[in-house]
Amino acid sequence: MKIAVLPGDGIGPEIVAEAVKVLKALGPTFDLEEAPVGGAAYDLSGHPLPPATLELAKSADAILFGAVGDWKYDTLARELRPEQAILGLRKHLALFANFRPAICYPELTAASSLKPEIVGGLDILIVRELNGDIYFGQPRGIRTSEHALFKGAREGFDTMHYSEPEVIRIGKVAFEAARKRSKKVCSVDKANVLETSQLWRDVMTKLAADYPDVELSHMYVDNAAMQLVKAPKAFDVVVTGNLFGDILSDEAAMLTGSIGMLPSASLDKNNKGLYEPSHGSAPDIAGKGIANPLATILSAAMMLRYSLGMTGEANRIEKAVQTVLQQGLRTADIYTEGTQRVSTVQMGDAVVAALA
Ligand code: IPM
Ligand code: MG
Repeated sequence: MKIAVLPGDGIGPEIVAEAVKVLKALGPTFDLEEAPVGGAAYDLSGHPLPPATLELAKSADAILFGAVGDWKYDTLARELRPEQAILGLRKHLALFANFRPAICYPELTAASSLKPEIVGGLDILIVRELNGDIYFGQPRGIRTSEHALFKGAREGFDTMHYSEPEVIRIGKVAFEAARKRSKKVCSVDKANVLETSQLWRDVMTKLAADYPDVELSHMYVDNAAMQLVKAPKAFDVVVTGNLFGDILSDEAAMLTGSIGMLPSASLDKNNKGLYEPSHGSAPDIAGKGIANPLATILSAAMMLRYSLGMTGEANRIEKAVQTVLQQGLRTADIYTEGTQRVSTVQMGDAVVAALA
């Protein structure tokens, strides 16, 4: 099994090192091949997604990704910024289905900014479309306005679109996922304003006929943002487009106490995938040894389950994570009084010890 290991920027290298440590401790030998990505790759070779890194990602059975981005690259031309690495990988590898679970661990309920009764036992899954929408729509750019009132002024523009087959393929993923859970899908759009969303809603409604055992509901994205903090447990699977999914998945993640706990998977149609923590590169805490490696370790577990068919090993990692939480070990982001504060490396070591 060949795994491409792409640590990236900020806390990326620190948290990926802990996930690699856990993978190595499992027993089976993986062929782990590392390559630079994001700002780190730009510094080395002048491009955030060098051809050799893309080739490695294409040839691997799965990709373990850290995070990319740092303020120091904000002034670069857009195509050279670290974010283009992750967007490029998603697009080049046709990773269109993004799974972002938001689970509130019982031990961490107190770390949430919401009341325990609102978030306790929360377990929802956001299925975000990852290859389309305004993220990749053409045309886009900055031009001179033709608008009656603002004629001659500079204006930025982007294009939102979704074709029927794109909505169908992500819809199927969401319905299939719901079948393995509580059999409820909430499709989130802005059909009261956007044509793209009107088509999205029509296609989802039609598709639902193929899944009579799954209950489909629709919700406008602004209301969904509100319901997520009001009564998040009313959701099960949420399916939505690239932009709305970006926003709602950060919101959902924070319900659980810390975004530092949440893994994610981005899959193609054959379940080949890229696995990364839901959080970003956090350059403000990079190199301090305080980042939470659990989201990346749990992403490695998702990788074993979805792309490598190693369910037993995936379960072992997830159980080990539960064990360290029960032992009261906490990185700074999930620390509450009465628990034991540990470093990134100590947390990784504890997970390895708990595997045994
Ligand atoms: C995410 C991130 C990315 C996105 C950025 C880094 C391009 O926010 O994975 O949610 O917007 O998709
Ligand atoms: Mg995001």
